[in-house]
Amino acid sequence: MTTTRTIERIFPAVRTTEGAGFIVHRPFPTRTLMDFDPFLLLDEMGPIDYAPGAAKGAPDHPHRGFETVTYMLEGRFAHKDSAGHSGSLGPGDVQWMTAGAGVIHSEMPDPEFARTGGRIHGLQLWVNLPARDKMIAPRYQELPTASIPVGRSADGKVSVKVIAGEALGVKAAIETRTPILYQHFTIAPGGRVEQPVPAAWRVFAYGLSGAGYYGRDGERGGERVEAQQMVAFANNGDSVVLAAPDDAAEPLEVLLIGGVPLHEPVVRYGPFVMNTEQEIREAVADYQSGRMGRIAH
Ligand code: FE2
Repeated sequence: MTTTRTIERIFPAVRTTEGAGFIVHRPFPTRTLMDFDPFLLLDEMGPIDYAPGAAKGAPDHPHRGFETVTYMLEGRFAHKDSAGHSGSLGPGDVQWMTAGAGVIHSEMPDPEFARTGGRIHGLQLWVNLPARDKMIAPRYQELPTASIPVGRSADGKVSVKVIAGEALGVKAAIETRTPILYQHFTIAPGGRVEQPVPAAWRVFAYGLSGAGYYGRDGERGGERVEAQQMVAFANNGDSVVLAAPDDAAEPLEVLLIGGVPLHEPVVRYGPFVMNTEQEIREAVADYQSGRMGRIAH
């Protein structure tokens, strides 16, 4: 017998600019929601249409103490880092970067994409690392879209790309430091899915397009929420329900993200997220003295 979670609160995404000036929708961190343990940030980049030569990115910058997960929907980004990794992320591709003790990287529009212009749409999620893992060696997991498993409901109305965790009988290929789920559901009008989630996990949904019904109260057993809103579920059950209205003009595209809360102090300073002020001072000193390396351009 499962109990469906209710909605704890809905947080609208704030529109802001990041890096060298790209537009993001950000449900957190904001003034009303600093983090969502174990998650530190979610940015929806764009969607934005760039003229030829106008695309923006984030030039060389460091990270320490957490993981960045980049999921491209449209457009193409090139990345490069101080450990000698480089590559390109296109539509549907995922890069799960464990910054650990420190890495310097750049996230820029792919040169060919920048030249021709086009639409950029993607997501970046920051996953905190537990104190014991903050200084581990950096690691990359890159998943081209073709190797991300897809689950489907029996009635054909729901499909899910399983980036982390398990959904509709399909298991992700990514390895995470603490148990995480990260799933991209596409739900046709009238479709509905009930996703099991362990009772202690913090879980939220973020709508990319289309309206959805979430939780167990209200119309169709859920509350109607539009896109670019974050739905934080209460910790009062072991499943969440996501559904698309019967009369919807388009499918619901929604991310379901959750994990085990760390319950540790969070001290953030820009691209560094540690447990104490002293550790932040060390991170800044290590970065300034070049101990996080540099990118060979
Ligand atoms: Fe970054």
